[in-house]
Amino acid sequence: MHLTREEERTLNGEDGETLQKAIEILVALGDIYGADKLIPIKSAQIAGVSYKTIGDAGLEWISDLNGKVKVPAVLNPAGMDMLRWEEMGVDAEFAKKQHEIVAAYEKLGIQTKCTCTPYYLDGFDVKYGDHLAWSESSAVSYSNSVLGARTNREGGPSALSAALVGKTANFGYHLDEMREPVIAVDVDCELTGSDYGALGYLAGKTIGSRVPIFYMQSKPSKDELKSLGAALAASGAVALYHVEGVSPDAVKLNYERPDETLSVGKEDILEVYEKTAMIGDEIRDTDIVTVGCPHCSPDEMQKIAAMLHGKTLQKEMWVCTSREVADRYPELVNTIEKSGAKVVCDTCMVVSPAANNFQCMMVNSGKALSYVPSMCKVSAKYGSIEKCIEEAGVLDEN
Ligand code: F3S
Repeated sequence: MHLTREEERTLNGEDGETLQKAIEILVALGDIYGADKLIPIKSAQIAGVSYKTIGDAGLEWISDLNGKVKVPAVLNPAGMDMLRWEEMGVDAEFAKKQHEIVAAYEKLGIQTKCTCTPYYLDGFDVKYGDHLAWSESSAVSYSNSVLGARTNREGGPSALSAALVGKTANFGYHLDEMREPVIAVDVDCELTGSDYGALGYLAGKTIGSRVPIFYMQSKPSKDELKSLGAALAASGAVALYHVEGVSPDAVKLNYERPDETLSVGKEDILEVYEKTAMIGDEIRDTDIVTVGCPHCSPDEMQKIAAMLHGKTLQKEMWVCTSREVADRYPELVNTIEKSGAKVVCDTCMVVSPAANNFQCMMVNSGKALSYVPSMCKVSAKYGSIEKCIEEAGVLDEN
């Protein structure tokens, strides 16, 4: 891999130990995957934030680093709402460790708006063809597929290294040839809303880590594409997908149809709504409903607020979003919370240990359906946003 003189100096430790470690990680990855050089990135999004997933070893590793990031960088969701963790039922010891992790990242100049939807944040707008180093799988999928940017599915340490160096190794989805679709998915029915998450949940299992191109009968919105991509990344490991006539690369580059085809029909989609991903063999009643996986967009917050307006819920319901989006729309937060639902920021139903306190969760996200049983040991059911609200038990008008 070719390094500039300046990069060589960093690799030799002349810019300090932290930058040396960071560039070593990038060069090692570049050598493994055959990169020719390092390329500048526009922003980084760094996973490995929840104390539930990184523990004390992760906290120690981050705390030992010094220096400042060279590009805008932001964190993935933490294990709790950083302000309202007590209300979520998170214990004080966990909260203390979580605050230490976020503070350690902040010391490096990383923004502590913990979210999997950085593309809604001020200062993180993404343009077609931008090179990024993002690590949360749904954010990677959205930026590659919906925004036409270029990022690999970075691990926490490699995204952090890229943020510190301001560059990443030029391989994988940064290259034209790695972005071409290799499997066609024919969708033989009209889809709407959570059907897209169900499609991703189903198709991801067959597609694995390959690049698919979807041929659809309906035209998905950006929020629907967000749900599709998140589910594809969770049930498979899809980091980039195309939708004929919709997604930017497919529109600009006019790909040839791949030879292999997967067909999905209405009955396949309906099956996802009917099954419960079980923990144990006892069917349990839903005791929590969660929406906002990935974190809600302003439009989704608006839609949920309109649906909850004047209602009172009987069951626990979380609406997960970023703190920046929640802070931008206090009137929507207020309407949602008046119903008894909680607007949960900085975290989500998968990465917070508070989710483990429930028995059965209804979700409207194919990604959450994949991960809630394995990560939280909680059974999961799938429903549309309307069904989720109904399941939360609308008692009366407030
Ligand atoms: Fe985001 Fe958590 Fe879902 S990180 S994509 S809300 S599992």
